[in-house]
Amino acid sequence: MDSDLSLEFLRVVEQAAIACAHTMGQGDRHGSDQVAVEAMRKVMDTVPIDGTIVIGEGERDEAPMLYIGEKVGMPYAKEPVAGPRPTTFTEVDIAVDPLEGTNLCATGAANAIAVLAVSDRGGLLHAPDLYMEKLVVGPSSKDHVSLDASVKDNLNAIAQCLKRRVEDLVVVVLDRERHAKLIDDIRTSGARIRLIGDGDLSAGIAAAVVGSGVHAVMGTGGAPEGVLTAAAMRCLNGEIFARLVVSKPEHEERCRAMGITDFKRIYRSRDLAPGKHIIFAATGVTDGTLMRGVRFFGDGTRTSSVIMQNEPHRIRFIDSIHVRPDTNVKIQF
Ligand code: FBP
Repeated sequence: MDSDLSLEFLRVVEQAAIACAHTMGQGDRHGSDQVAVEAMRKVMDTVPIDGTIVIGEGERDEAPMLYIGEKVGMPYAKEPVAGPRPTTFTEVDIAVDPLEGTNLCATGAANAIAVLAVSDRGGLLHAPDLYMEKLVVGPSSKDHVSLDASVKDNLNAIAQCLKRRVEDLVVVVLDRERHAKLIDDIRTSGARIRLIGDGDLSAGIAAAVVGSGVHAVMGTGGAPEGVLTAAAMRCLNGEIFARLVVSKPEHEERCRAMGITDFKRIYRSRDLAPGKHIIFAATGVTDGTLMRGVRFFGDGTRTSSVIMQNEPHRIRFIDSIHVRPDTNVKIQF
């Protein structure tokens, strides 16, 4: 996969973030999501790829755009694309979450992002839209924790790897009824907790970055977000341990339809995002731990993004100023 494509995908997440950032705090999560989807889809048409959405906005009958199985990229553009047209297009699979944290954007809360992951064909698990138990940690503790270990044992291991006391750790947990026992166990162990309203993907990325102040993410969240987290972990050398929550016959059917028969399997990053080449791109919509939110300043817009690749292995934090045409805008450092 051509590594220069990463900057093409940067444009995609930047435009999705800018579109939905205009709706911040409007209290309309569906409206925020819709504008992000439309912007992401439009820019995707200009990227020189032969892409297939493998994780997206849902099945074809419930999502008009970015549905699972949809073909995207220049060869499928609905309108003519300006500029030179390549003769061949790289085949890629794409996982998108045009607005991760729809409520966060609708209420102006922290850590809403526009995000996608790209891989060579077959490089991202086609996960059913179920819940997933997750444990996300950074590089130093990834070989010392397990989804089957107790919360206390995992926290002791993380503390040891990070050379600090359990009391100094910060664990991010989605604030949900289903996490009552988990929260109790973390509190009993003495670790600190950051309860979040939404956005376990942003939290997972932070857990793998030293200095973010987040040392682990624990609990159950969306499986699509789990695959996107895995793609980020492939680039950040962190780890996600994940197990699908299959509690009803209907869940089993959905898994089987996607070729999943071992419902108890614990997946790691390389299982969820096995691709040889991975690109992960995210732009902040609202201010967050690693990226600032979109800022509008009249004549332009400023965005803060992260673009990661495993080959060549590089992580880029990108601060872009999008200047309105025909303006004499002053660029501020
Ligand atoms: P949306 O982007 O669809 O709003 O999802 C946000 C999110 O909080 C994810 O980060 C998380 O994995 C999932 O929802 C948790 O689902 P639920 O809100 O059903 O607990």
